[in-house]
Amino acid sequence: MATINKQKIVDSVPQKGFFGNPKGLFTLFFTEFWERFSYYGMRAILVYYMYYEVSKGGLGLDETTALALVSIYGSLVYMSGIIGGWLADRIFGTSKAVFYGGILIMLGHIVLAMPGSLSMFFVSMVLIVLGTGLLKPNVSSIVGEIYAENDERRDSGFSIFYMGINAGAFIAPLVVGSVTGYSFHLGFGLAAVGMLIGLIVFVATKKKYLGLAGTIPANPLSQDERKATLTKIGIAALIVAVIIVISAVTGILTIKTFINLVGILGIVIPTLYFIFMYRSPKTTSVERSRLIAYIPLFIAAVMFWAIQEQGATILANYADKRTQLNFAGIEIKPAWFQSLNPLFIITLAPVFAWLWIKLGKRQPTIPQKFSLGLLFAGLSFLVILLPVYFGGSQSLVNPLWLVLSYFLVVLGELCLSPVGLSATTKLAPAAFSAQTMSLWFLASAAAQALNAQIVRFYTPQTEMAYFGVIGAASIILGLALLALSPKIQGFMKGIR
Ligand code: GLN
Ligand code: ALA
Repeated sequence: MATINKQKIVDSVPQKGFFGNPKGLFTLFFTEFWERFSYYGMRAILVYYMYYEVSKGGLGLDETTALALVSIYGSLVYMSGIIGGWLADRIFGTSKAVFYGGILIMLGHIVLAMPGSLSMFFVSMVLIVLGTGLLKPNVSSIVGEIYAENDERRDSGFSIFYMGINAGAFIAPLVVGSVTGYSFHLGFGLAAVGMLIGLIVFVATKKKYLGLAGTIPANPLSQDERKATLTKIGIAALIVAVIIVISAVTGILTIKTFINLVGILGIVIPTLYFIFMYRSPKTTSVERSRLIAYIPLFIAAVMFWAIQEQGATILANYADKRTQLNFAGIEIKPAWFQSLNPLFIITLAPVFAWLWIKLGKRQPTIPQKFSLGLLFAGLSFLVILLPVYFGGSQSLVNPLWLVLSYFLVVLGELCLSPVGLSATTKLAPAAFSAQTMSLWFLASAAAQALNAQIVRFYTPQTEMAYFGVIGAASIILGLALLALSPKIQGFMKGIR
């Protein structure tokens, strides 16, 4: 986007009014708060909905399929960010993308709120995947647009926004988890209401608070390009639709092939992306070096998110099946455990921010922070072995062990997640800057595509080996990264 446009946008946004930040941050904060409320509320109960028996209001799938499907869902939600980012960048701008995305997400939750079948679930999945792809990367991009190039408040703005994400993620499982005793559909209904509130906030305040932010596509297609591209997209969509219909009718498209297909896409898409960026004539040689440095970081991020995201699948299952839920006189709902991660994020993020400032130049480098992320993630799985080691695998486990596990993963998340996004911005070639958000989300997409493949190894008999092997793998990878970090730092060519 031309500098002149950037300045014009910043001038159109009231520069004060929300905790010392531009007023537009209010709009973005609450839109994302409610979107995450709906997403994490749905996600807190989804796996239970899928494997609970029909008599208990669930779909009655077998547990392994349920765990894999929830992983696939999570993978596609982040994969679709590429489409959402591209559409905003080249066709209609970020603001419209957020609006359309919110509508699709709300419709997706409404479909889940109606008593239905597995096919209704797939319909809602398509809606929420496309909707989140449109909304999630773009709402974050607008945060970047409301600050002038060298505005020092930018980082604080992103930190406040991160709090909004986690506040929504914290409240939702408590609220949604509490009503599911009556019906899962009521829970999904609440998620729909959350997204509706987010949309209302967005529509009602965007003109006044966001000005021109989000209204100008960064790199629009020309009229001719537009026609040609839309035709190509139309043909491609048609071919995909025909393939899906044919393979569904002939019985080739089963849940299993679907899971494998997404597993392959999860690896292939980021690989092609890297090759494309590396070979692009717009990428300079310094940028090529930085891309090389980014590859091990990306792999580390995949490993980290693979463990973190299992908090909503494997650990959710563990909370339901293996944990003492009658604790200290309270009847704990298994979905409530999903509030722990965001709760710890909210309370500890300021501590980490303070710590990095305090350490100043002595703080760990970016690769070192990533390796810390992996070490904590690994430990979060290894601690689950302790109660089984001490108490045997027959008795129910004290819920505090799970609390400890979620706590450890958050220590890692705070080393890796906020740093990861800014590292992506700094290490990706300038010509691809509009897509950095989607690129970073591809690590989460790949992680969950991988999870969909490995959850099948989780059974009551293999529980110890499962947590042990994955936890150890993460720690070994973390140590390898630590050893390589001076080398990676060299390839980063001055980025810190
Ligand atoms: N938990 C954060 C969110 O939902 C980060 C997600 C990610 O980077 N994978 O927004
Ligand atoms: N911790 C998750 C994220 O940062 C919920 O949003």
